[in-house]
Amino acid sequence: MSSLLENGRSHDCGALRHADVGATVVLFGWVHRRRDHGALIFINLRDRFGITQVVIDPDLAPAAHAAAAVLRGEFCIAVAGVVVSRGDNINAQMPTGEIEVSLRELEVFSSADVLPFNVADDAELDATETHRLKYRYLDLRRPSLQKNFVLRSRLATLTRLTLAEAGFLELETPYMVKYTPGGARNFLVPSRLNPGQFYALAESPQIFKQLFMVAGMDKYFQICRCFRDEDLRNDRQPEFTQIDVEISYATPERVQAPIEALIRRAWKDILGAELPQQFPRMTWAEAMARYGSDKPDTRFGLEFIDLKDIVAESGFRMFTGAPFVKGLCVGPEHSEALTRGRLDKLTELVKKRESGGAKGLAWARVQADGSWQSPLAKNLSAELVAAINARMGALPGSVLLIIADDFHVTHQALNALRLELRDSLDLVARAGRSPWQFLWVTDFPLFERTEKGYVSSHHPFTSPRAVDLPLLDSDPAQVLAQAYDLVLNGNEIGGGSIRIHRSDVQAKVFAVLGLSEAQIQHKFGFLLEAFRYGPPPHGGIALGLDRISMLMAGATSLRDVIAFPKTQKGTDLMTGCPSGADDEQLAELFIRQAPPEGT
Ligand code: AMO
Repeated sequence: MSSLLENGRSHDCGALRHADVGATVVLFGWVHRRRDHGALIFINLRDRFGITQVVIDPDLAPAAHAAAAVLRGEFCIAVAGVVVSRGDNINAQMPTGEIEVSLRELEVFSSADVLPFNVADDAELDATETHRLKYRYLDLRRPSLQKNFVLRSRLATLTRLTLAEAGFLELETPYMVKYTPGGARNFLVPSRLNPGQFYALAESPQIFKQLFMVAGMDKYFQICRCFRDEDLRNDRQPEFTQIDVEISYATPERVQAPIEALIRRAWKDILGAELPQQFPRMTWAEAMARYGSDKPDTRFGLEFIDLKDIVAESGFRMFTGAPFVKGLCVGPEHSEALTRGRLDKLTELVKKRESGGAKGLAWARVQADGSWQSPLAKNLSAELVAAINARMGALPGSVLLIIADDFHVTHQALNALRLELRDSLDLVARAGRSPWQFLWVTDFPLFERTEKGYVSSHHPFTSPRAVDLPLLDSDPAQVLAQAYDLVLNGNEIGGGSIRIHRSDVQAKVFAVLGLSEAQIQHKFGFLLEAFRYGPPPHGGIALGLDRISMLMAGATSLRDVIAFPKTQKGTDLMTGCPSGADDEQLAELFIRQAPPEGT
């Protein structure tokens, strides 16, 4: 073993300051950059803590100078030397910019081929994401990515500290679990020891954490991997991490309070940001009415304005024929930005299926005298125009955007418009609100009605509100859940609920979901049986650790906070996964490949 390695480093590459001048130091790291200035060679040495400049002077260290001839970018080396002041040549951009290390001894731990792309943050990022994922271990060397993982690690540490101090036990639950169709699509794992049978990878520890409550664990948490075979997006990965929590004798407030405390502490310790003592709350119904979303971005206004009552008697079919008529009023300061061409683009947007599939967008530009420049103008009386202006708070130059359709289309389309305008008109910055807008959204409907019948909005163990219990028999669509989501800046960062602990209520919910007795026993028999032995009332929540890290880091993709993420198609480009299995392996698992379709 080399002597420098054996004795260890004295400092990391971000540590040295002017006070260290004169000290003899040993640093380890990567050659970030090398510059030759005549006889002097300058090396920027990098590790995850920072960068230190090393100067190699042939007069002071002839052997090391000769050895340095081989150094190239990303060689991993050790340097021993003396800290010297940079005098007037301070580099204010670098925390270590007051000093440099005058080299005395150099050791090369390993050489590096030319990298497939440059990992210096100050160099142009010259690689596609595909390339960067293939060489993820190199991409992770970039200081801008490393800082995200430092943040993520601190968040995980703070979570453990805060929840342990609050009396939570950190417990583990199995990843290989019973397959129960219904929630997110599961990944299946064949069982070699049980031919023809499969485990599922847990989509969450939901049932097990409830069983911990039956078992008397009182308060549980886990930083836990979850697996879901979903269509992937920037804020969805097939394996992701939850901060999973469950408590006995829960009320929504008793679940939310420690979560708020954790979030407040993390924001203060990691970002230096003060958050309010209590996060605001809004019911699902109000969130939908005002923002058309169950995860509203409340960093800016542009709320929905209901027009149905004042247009009801207008005689204009577009308005009278639709159960919902709602609009947005964009202020006159944006009038110029909303050209006719932009309004046509917005019309195209609301017609798209993913933004509601509205039949069209009614728009009006309010003139100095209050009249409208609008394709609709000729259909509406001056009185009605004036009433709409007054309801919407319109000023000369305001642009009004109105959708008339059913509940779903109206709200989804206006939500899409609102978010598009947020980005294109820079509404968040202009609103000047605090950059962290947390919101608890509460009282979700317990069920969603689909063509195939009712499905759980959250999961089938979510408790209805006590007052709504009679509605389980008479009108399940009206039942509200004791469920809550935590929303940050328009992102769902957590969700949870009070659970059903009474088997009669659970049986009714299963009945609404259309599950037969046999299906219930097959899927959840063990849970229902557990509930026969004195279960405490309980409830909990799970926070998306990846999403929270992403938002704290100011990133826009989960891939920037997950060390080894999957692509949009669920592949790992670095290891080449998923990959095929040979017949022998499959035979051990009692699986035979189906011939390709069409043969
Ligand atoms: P839920 O399904 O709402 O609740 O998940 C909780 C939180 O996990 C995050 N999340 C994801 N993050 C990244 N990629 C994904 N594919 C993904 N899916 C979800 C979100 C979400 O708010 N067992 C319940 C919790 C409970 O009731 O206690 C559950 O899993 O931030």
